[in-house]
Amino acid sequence: MKKILVTGGAGFIGSHVLRLFVNKYPEYHIFNLDALTYAGNLENLKDIQDAPNYTFLKADITNAEQIDELFGKHQFDRVIHLAAESHVDRSITDPMAFVKTNVMGTVNLLTAAKEHWKDINGKLFYHVSTDEVYGSLGEEGLFTETTAYDPNSPYSASKASSDHFVRSYGETYKLPYVISNCSNNYGPNHFPEKLIPLFINNIINNKSLPVYGDGNYTRDWLFVKDHAAAIDLVFHKGSNNETYNIGGFNEWKNIDLVKLLCQQMDQKLGRNEGESEKLITYVKDRPGHDLRYAIDATKLNKELGWKPSVTFEEGLSKTIDWYLENEEWLKNVTSGSYQQYYNKQYN
Ligand code: NAD
Ligand code: DAU
Repeated sequence: MKKILVTGGAGFIGSHVLRLFVNKYPEYHIFNLDALTYAGNLENLKDIQDAPNYTFLKADITNAEQIDELFGKHQFDRVIHLAAESHVDRSITDPMAFVKTNVMGTVNLLTAAKEHWKDINGKLFYHVSTDEVYGSLGEEGLFTETTAYDPNSPYSASKASSDHFVRSYGETYKLPYVISNCSNNYGPNHFPEKLIPLFINNIINNKSLPVYGDGNYTRDWLFVKDHAAAIDLVFHKGSNNETYNIGGFNEWKNIDLVKLLCQQMDQKLGRNEGESEKLITYVKDRPGHDLRYAIDATKLNKELGWKPSVTFEEGLSKTIDWYLENEEWLKNVTSGSYQQYYNKQYN
């Protein structure tokens, strides 16, 4: 039986990856290592928590000793590393938290893998990363796997650094690795600090929709289950020491996306057409705001046959339905320290 360590499995993308692996691969034992920060939530995993091939390990990747001990105890064969501080706005107010978790935490995991994997046969360190490492595009062009790194925010700088460390362990210590760099995800269990779930929650509560700057910033959106499917493919069929870009072929200017979201919300909530759009408020721009991200996912498509399974309209509709059906989840994650964060960020 293969022992797979997934880090950050109680978060947004990690929970979808865990569910997919636990259900699809009963022959693997999946360990979920998570510190349960504000972004980690075991409620995301309720349906698989009692599965016989699943174990939760509460641990912090910034604690090198603890990570080393867990590698010694459980003898993981492979790692899918998702644990991170993931929100750009938080990285602007507290960059060091991103250095600690994203850079030092990743190096701790790499070091533990290097020390414990004496026989590298069948071993793999999979680092789940972001398209933000490539910086910002102008009106034209796409990020490919050979685009030079040019990160602009403390978040993207920390992810770029962790990618470089992964590669360096591959070169220096021959640690088998793979990296994927993905565009903006959306879907169920997304923490309501990010654009789409934040705006869904605000529309439900008739609160203003804070659009940064003029709203003419572009992101390439991918449904989270399609990202999880791509991770499954790269994990099993990707070539060692390669990078794969993952994206939705689905660019939206923020303001157009917000208007589509408002239309769908009006319909689902039985509100008059145009009612939610009235909540749009243009606010101070994000410092260093990247103009445009867009991924060229041709390599993943041609080499491994992956493509997104849902259109944006379908994915967005499913996402809104999930939030409307999971009010309790939304209430729980927006209680406690959330209100403090919200007031500091938006008032
Ligand atoms: P998230 O913020 O929802 O979840 C992060 C998880 O990591 C949480 O469960 C949290 O408790 C855990 N964690 C944080 N610090 C930890 C620590 N020190 N030790 C152990 N666990 C810790 O993040 P997400 O959006 O699911 O992103 C997951 C990964 O995918 C990240 O590496 C992120 O950079 C990358 N990524 C995200 C997106 C996106 O659109 N969300 C796109 C591309 C890549
Ligand atoms: O591209 C991949 C990245 O996508 C991931 O690596 C990050 O972890 C993830 O958080 C996401 O980063 P973004 O900064 O693109 O996502 P966010 O949802 O924060 O913002 C999306 C766009 O919406 C961006 O242009 C900023 C804008 N925005 C965001 C918020 C939270 C607003 O206009 N208002 C807001 O309140």
